[in-house]
Amino acid sequence: LELLDQTRLPSELHYLECRTADETADAIARLAVRGAPAIGVAAAYGVCLALNDPAADVADVVAACRRLAASRPTAVNLFWALARMEQAAGRCADRSQLAAVLLAEAQAIEAEDQATCAAIGRHGADWFDALPDGCSLLTHCNAGALATAGDGTALAVVFELARRGKRPHVWVDETRPLLQGARLTAWELQQRGIDCTLICDNMAAWVMRRRPVAAVITGADRIAANGDAANKIGTYGLALLAAAHRIPFYVAAPRSTFDFSLPTGDAIPIEERAREEIVRWAGVATAPAATHCFNPAFDVTPAALIAGLITDRGVVAPPAPETIAALLAPA
Ligand code: MRU
Repeated sequence: LELLDQTRLPSELHYLECRTADETADAIARLAVRGAPAIGVAAAYGVCLALNDPAADVADVVAACRRLAASRPTAVNLFWALARMEQAAGRCADRSQLAAVLLAEAQAIEAEDQATCAAIGRHGADWFDALPDGCSLLTHCNAGALATAGDGTALAVVFELARRGKRPHVWVDETRPLLQGARLTAWELQQRGIDCTLICDNMAAWVMRRRPVAAVITGADRIAANGDAANKIGTYGLALLAAAHRIPFYVAAPRSTFDFSLPTGDAIPIEERAREEIVRWAGVATAPAATHCFNPAFDVTPAALIAGLITDRGVVAPPAPETIAALLAPA
């Protein structure tokens, strides 16, 4: 499995080779591959790698699913993809079919994600159709092609607006502590020739006050049945700032990001990462060594702050349990 190592962007385009499910789990845990849909797709292929061992059987596939599931807790796409892989393995009558069946399922997950991203892009661009040419959107973290198998979620909307000749401009939050906005989103937008301006996270309020921002649009890692949405730490603060400045705040996500088993966002597990991520950068200390740290990787934005959920099936605006279920809940 070849993965673009996102920890090395933007300085290096380095592809990482994973030969086992464990190596794939490690790549997910250390964010070499990241973004909710992308980790689901990577994990699906990681399960296939369990069959590199000629003696491996269904029990080994299930064990690989368990190890991959332990890599990161918040993005539900990971568990959704692994459940599909486990079900596919369960459908195999004998070991000789297992590799072909699992590979076909991983490829289906990847292809579905590509189609899903395109649909999110179309629905979002339709929704923003009335915005003037050259309008500015603000985003946080990276919800682009790097985070999915396709064009992304939030950025798919931006790319589709650009394809339609709208010339969008994007304010890019740098996204401390790991700088997904600065390192990945600014890089992706520049690769595609989209006008963007990088800001530090603590500048967003001032930008909203002093510069035009038509809307804020982010991705999500898990959305509860009532529309509460977990996304990269800092998203909740942005939603509060957007409300204070009367700027609509949107979340773009595929159906695989919805967790209908959770009535609200209160039960979404929030990953806490190593303190080193906030006391060191590129090997240099950025805080005294003994500093106590709290490093949650995600936060939950209450549905009440979300103007709309832009999904592959359409836009739910405003989000409410009934309207979300009507559009997206499994039959
Ligand atoms: O920790 P990360 O970089 O995996 O966090 C990613 C995000 O929070 C994204 O916004 C989210 O996964 C949506 S990706 C389409």
